[in-house]
Amino acid sequence: MNEEQRLQAGVIKSSTEKLHPSVEKDYSKYFETVYTPPSLKEAKRRGKEKIEYHNDYQIEDRFLGMGTNRKFHIRTYGCQMNEHDTEVIAGILTSLGYESTDNVKEANVILMNTCAIRENAENRVFGELGHLKPLKLENPDLLIGVCGCMSQEESVVNKILKTYDQVDMIFGTHNIHRLPNILHEAYMSKEMVIEVWSKEGDIIENLPKVRHGNIKAWVNIMYGCDKFCTYCIVPYTRGKERSRRPEDIIQEVRHLAASGYKEIMLLGQNVNAYGKDFEDLDYRLGDLMDDLRTIDIPRIRFTTSHPRDFDDHLIEVLAKGGNLLDHIHLPVQSGSSEILKIMARKYSREHFLELVNKIKTAIPTVTLTTDIIVGFPNETDEQFEETLSLYKEVGFEMAYTYIYSPREGTPAAKMVDNIPMEVKKERLQRLNKLVNEMSAEAMKPYKGKTVKVLVEGESKRNPEVLAGYTEKSKLVNFKAPREMIGKIVNVKIIDTKSWSLDGEFIEVVEEEKVMS
Ligand code: 5AD
Ligand code: SF4
Repeated sequence: MNEEQRLQAGVIKSSTEKLHPSVEKDYSKYFETVYTPPSLKEAKRRGKEKIEYHNDYQIEDRFLGMGTNRKFHIRTYGCQMNEHDTEVIAGILTSLGYESTDNVKEANVILMNTCAIRENAENRVFGELGHLKPLKLENPDLLIGVCGCMSQEESVVNKILKTYDQVDMIFGTHNIHRLPNILHEAYMSKEMVIEVWSKEGDIIENLPKVRHGNIKAWVNIMYGCDKFCTYCIVPYTRGKERSRRPEDIIQEVRHLAASGYKEIMLLGQNVNAYGKDFEDLDYRLGDLMDDLRTIDIPRIRFTTSHPRDFDDHLIEVLAKGGNLLDHIHLPVQSGSSEILKIMARKYSREHFLELVNKIKTAIPTVTLTTDIIVGFPNETDEQFEETLSLYKEVGFEMAYTYIYSPREGTPAAKMVDNIPMEVKKERLQRLNKLVNEMSAEAMKPYKGKTVKVLVEGESKRNPEVLAGYTEKSKLVNFKAPREMIGKIVNVKIIDTKSWSLDGEFIEVVEEEKVMS
């Protein structure tokens, strides 16, 4: 699904993303690969850093009250991990006495929690920083901060230092817990306060959080990524893979269940690597899901999966069903084994199809969705066709589709970006057409059926209509009393669209699944 489609389906509010503007058109070097393998040496070196777990986080007394009569506003870009980090940042600010505001003009602290995955995401942030500059003149107490993945990039920090003097603070994804000290320093000093690239091995358990809503909750199970796909900036911005201890995750999920949450999204950049870093414990994602399955909460999902580490035990556990949902988001990136190889995905088209077959055999009702990149360096028309044919063969029901964007410092950025932008756009359009058609096809069989919907709120387009998601993440719009918000209800589908279903409310689901 591209942004326009998500917008149409009412999943997101607005779109300003543009395609990468500066792709080289070096036709003469069309098939010349300048490929540098990922820095495994570096990965191994950082792997040796010991992971420390902390349960004793406390805001120092001297900082309490720092936010009295002050308000904060956070803009979040990028993935669900970032959204969840924003909940932690909001938790810390609230503990300091700050109040949240949606109005940027009345904020005393404005934070941009940024994403570095594609260049257009970064450009939006730079544009936004420009717009914020006049506010500094209006309000001398205002502090502007940049955090998230962009602040982990040296080039970004240098650019901000050089060009964006309205920024008071830059802090990285590993420095969120230091926010009280960073704010304190920013209030005391005229210099830009910068805290990035610190020790990445620590896990701090008891950071305060202000969760967004009380229906669905994000729970981190691991941080970082060691896969080093050649196009991806994440292993550099989020650091090495490190897993939270199972008992801490289980306790958090139990607590959320007891507080009335209905759905948990387990988060990690590569959740299938969960537990690989435990030295004292043979416990992986399958084991965790098997333990979480027994908690009395109706829905548990996880994201994002890497096909390489998706093991048989996990499939076996997911097949037990119950609160483990039969929707799996499985990014494939390309349908061509050659492209997968230069992406360093460490699986081939055939391996991927084998995995899909295993999953479908164990979970016949499964819905699969994916991520795809088009226009990777050297992608031929034939290789792109292989992506289309794989998409059909698997029967994906939705995809997030992207044009390749070179990220400085990644191995792919050193390859010649030799696919003309017109070709990339054309491939994206063809892919999106297929993605649309297959989504519409997948919706059709729902007509006349009754589905369970977790009601999230009013539809973004019509406040008289409620909206929610099925177990397989299909958006459903229907009329029902507002008291149904937060409940799981049965809805009969009367009409299907490409990206959503229209239905009639029947009743609240009697017993929200009780696990075995
Ligand atoms: N260019 C384009 N898309 C990218 N993604 C990650 N890095 C890049 C890049 N450099 C996509 C992948 C990933 C999703 C989160 O973003 O498809 O799964
Ligand atoms: Fe990026 Fe995901 Fe690969 Fe990690 S697993 S490097 S986050 S695409």
